[in-house]
Amino acid sequence: MSRRRQIYEGKAKILYEGPEPGTIIQYFKDDATAFNAEKKGTINGKGVINNRISEHIFTLLNHIGIPSHFIRRLNMREQLVKQVEIVPIEVIVRNVAAGSLSKRLGIEEGTQLPHTLLEYCYKDDALGDPLVAEEHIACFGWASQEEMQDISAMAIRINDFMAGMFAGIGIKLVDFKLEFGRVFEGDFSRIILADEISPDGCRLWDMETNEKLDKDRFRRDLGGEAEAYQEVARRLGLFPEGVSEVLDLNSERKKRGK
Ligand code: TMP
Repeated sequence: MSRRRQIYEGKAKILYEGPEPGTIIQYFKDDATAFNAEKKGTINGKGVINNRISEHIFTLLNHIGIPSHFIRRLNMREQLVKQVEIVPIEVIVRNVAAGSLSKRLGIEEGTQLPHTLLEYCYKDDALGDPLVAEEHIACFGWASQEEMQDISAMAIRINDFMAGMFAGIGIKLVDFKLEFGRVFEGDFSRIILADEISPDGCRLWDMETNEKLDKDRFRRDLGGEAEAYQEVARRLGLFPEGVSEVLDLNSERKKRGK
């Protein structure tokens, strides 16, 4: 078997050169990090679950006209995506106060925000992804004003869609992170959704109990992180064959070295 060329290894994913020019293979790892990788661990089966959840959400978003890098899922842990030039901005969409917003402004976690809040962080691990204003983005040329209009409009549409989708399965979409990229067509480039959407980058609370069904279980040492990710996948109707069966099969294969 020919070895694929690894392009990049991130905290939760590895990127390999794809089969055709302009394509990339995203491999989802079980590795979990928090606080800019100060805390490290693994969540069993996370890569398999996030690959499926992200495929599901990107496919539905495509149906409502949100262009993305997603082409197709290849196997349990990999998906084929379009190569993009990543915009170095993490877009945080918030419906309910939590996490760094609560800390920064002293707003109790769980407080409903009067309207959806968009925040931007500059993607730079060495700086700890600092919060920036749109003025910084324009000033340093990280994205143009037209690109930021496309990005913010898409982020709001994605939020409206996802909030409804999760509400339908008894989950409150508290906040989440998006990343966007540029694809070039001749002299022009356009913005498309990139990266992944999964419980790694979303806060998802059970509507009845407020139980956390996302990476905060890992960040805050609450335990039960694998079960929480499985529960989100189950409620989304993924893994109809049973998520634990699929994951056990996977670990059996691994043990046999296949
Ligand atoms: P925060 O409250 O810690 O700023 O996080 C807001 C949302 O963004 C939350 O759903 C988790 C997600 N997020 C990431 O996906 N990656 C990150 O590096 C950080 C800090 C947050």
